[in-house]
Amino acid sequence: MLTDKKIAVLGAGKLGETLIKGLIEAGVINTGNLIVTAGHQARLDQLRGRFDITGTLSNTEAAQSADIIILAVKPQTVPLVLAEIRDALNPAQLLISVAASVSIAFIEKHLSLPVPIIRAMPNTPCLIKKGMTGISPGANAASNHIELAKFIFDSVGRTVVVDEKHMDAITGLSASGPAFIYIVIESLAEAGVKVGLPRDIATELAAQTVLGAGAMVLETAEHPAKLKDMVTTPAGCTIDGILELEDGGLRVTLIKAVVKATSRAKELLET
Ligand SMILES: NC(=O)c1ccc[n+]([C@@H]2O[C@H](COP(=O)([O-])OP(=O)(O)OC[C@H]3O[C@@H](n4cnc5c(N)ncnc54)[C@H](OP(=O)(O)O)[C@@H]3O)[C@@H](O)[C@H]2O)c1
Repeated sequence: MLTDKKIAVLGAGKLGETLIKGLIEAGVINTGNLIVTAGHQARLDQLRGRFDITGTLSNTEAAQSADIIILAVKPQTVPLVLAEIRDALNPAQLLISVAASVSIAFIEKHLSLPVPIIRAMPNTPCLIKKGMTGISPGANAASNHIELAKFIFDSVGRTVVVDEKHMDAITGLSASGPAFIYIVIESLAEAGVKVGLPRDIATELAAQTVLGAGAMVLETAEHPAKLKDMVTTPAGCTIDGILELEDGGLRVTLIKAVVKATSRAKELLET
């Protein structure tokens, strides 16, 4: 579906490289059809050393030759890049923006023609094909554009198609979420060390436990509370641990973290 498409990644930073690596390793793109841009030549040289891909400092050059343009610069840089590419784009192309906070309406306003736009919010586990991406189509995007975007992000994880009004929430939950969960894993591993486990074993136990619990939720489709109850034997040890979690406010703290990250996601374009 993608091997004959020319893809331009404008702003191949952390997230851009994550997508490039994920797509190359998934074998769904032809690296000869990939062109990337960055702010500095040193970054392009670094990427060329890692992948056999073409790089240019000209967003216009990259965009005009591509079928699919993935806009992956920082939100604050989006207006600058849109000003550069506005006259290079045409309605036969597809523009996918992964920039947090930047609405489809904002992008449309900065383009000359009605180019199909998909707004996407992936996360860094796309690097190992365990990503989670929310995608949202603009008014000019047809079902084939949604299918293309789904194909791209499905090849590096799971996708959900949502109304654009949910994109900031997805930014706060699944795009920021890996950082929250790394802290949970780090804390569980630290706890393992406290109760006498070697650190490497404690970290493996913690990470695989998070992976397994996540997979249980997805694969059984059971409510997490029901799965939790299955682990919690009456008068056993898990309930004692749960009481500590409730006392420490883990639930409320996680909810507040996502709420705060979601409201910050609304502001990124301006600051
Ligand atoms: N990181 C995540 O987990 C994540 C998740 C979902 C969405 N996002 C979104 O992805 C976007 C990028 O985030 P990031 O974490 O990957 O940031 P990043 O690592 O700073 O990447 C930004 C890239 O843009 C390049 N750049 C700067 N100015 C440019 C210009 N004028 N033209 C072309 N390229 C330019 C930079 O190049 P130089 O390195 O040469 O300066 C850099 O490689 C953001 O909009 C963010 O909201 C990120």
